[in-house]
Amino acid sequence: MKIELSDKIRSFKPFLFEELYRKERAERAKGKDIISLAVGDPDIPTAPSIVNCAVSEVKKGSNHRYPNTKGNENLRREVSAWHKRRHGLSFHPADEVSILIGSKEGIAHLPFVAMNAGDYCLIPDPTYPTYRTGVVLCGGRIHDVPLEEKNAFLPDLGKIPQKIVDKTKLFFLNYPNNPTGASASLDFYKDLVKWARKNSVIIAQDAAYCEIYFGKPAPSILEVPGARDVAVEFYSSSKTYCMAGWRVGWVVGNSKLVCALNQLKENIDSGPFNAVQNAVAFALKNHETIVPPIREKFKKRAQDFCAGLAACGWKFAQPGGSCFIWAKPPVSCSSLDAVYFMLEHASVLTAPGSGFGRCGEGYVRFSLTEPDNKLRETLRRLKPLDWTRL
Ligand SMILES: Cc1ncc(COP(=O)(O)O)c(C=O)c1O
Repeated sequence: MKIELSDKIRSFKPFLFEELYRKERAERAKGKDIISLAVGDPDIPTAPSIVNCAVSEVKKGSNHRYPNTKGNENLRREVSAWHKRRHGLSFHPADEVSILIGSKEGIAHLPFVAMNAGDYCLIPDPTYPTYRTGVVLCGGRIHDVPLEEKNAFLPDLGKIPQKIVDKTKLFFLNYPNNPTGASASLDFYKDLVKWARKNSVIIAQDAAYCEIYFGKPAPSILEVPGARDVAVEFYSSSKTYCMAGWRVGWVVGNSKLVCALNQLKENIDSGPFNAVQNAVAFALKNHETIVPPIREKFKKRAQDFCAGLAACGWKFAQPGGSCFIWAKPPVSCSSLDAVYFMLEHASVLTAPGSGFGRCGEGYVRFSLTEPDNKLRETLRRLKPLDWTRL
């Protein structure tokens, strides 16, 4: 029998960086020592106190049964308590908090509860690619919203055509931003919430990097009065606690959306392992001791790396947060040409900005999730590059 795959799966383009990884493997096969700053996967191990908590939770037989899809009570209570401390917001653990198998999972599922086929979703350009996944699967339509350097990588709401807005159900954003490193202020969120309420658009703000800020603490969109009528916010333990492999995130906000997402998920998954959920609850409870050193580490890396890149002639806006530097090479060229040039002549792998959307063309994303010595070595290798040879 010849297996025919569905139209939907065939509509997913091959992973954009596949060709790049092929070239990376080829370079490694030649014996080259490649430094990869292409992906945002924290090198810092999870704090030993969290690991110890997980070990003792794994030993408890009560944790071995099926979890509750929306998350166990312990974790939902700690999520709620953390938001109270961090943002002064109260979320009811029963219907305004839901635990996810990593925020990526909830992000991919949200369009199924918010949109019908043919509805529009607004997606930033450049973007974190998973915002597209659920929209494509549920037959929705995508309108790209440019994030331009001249607007501090914030969307210009007035430029989105009203005829698209009228057919839009959902708008994904993420600040502190991947890939640009930009941050958003509470004033920006106030304007956004006003616009969303006026136009009946659901806002899904992705706060995966909310704890990696370099100036004032990143605000939550839900701090804006009335935001809960139109918005949900996604959170992740992956970067905040360097727990990317543990797969726990959460969503808070509008209870109709949170409960609908739970209802969908009850038909799909059973949530993360309870022992792991309890370890994340421990992390949240001890956030104020665990997180500042992680934030300081990324801040110092960003300062040092930006200084080094500037000395090599790169152009960029200073990041307000996240683990990324979004920069233009010393000469004007395509993102891919720049990435291949560095791979070939400096054995440094980076992510081409064009892989994040059309507006990313000309940029390169450096991820600071490798140890300090590798970041220093990267700068040492980039320094002598003669870009006129490109
Ligand atoms: C902007 C953004 N949102 C969400 C995620 C997914 O995070 P998680 O590990 O919680 O699924 C990532 C991961 O890189 C990300 O960059």
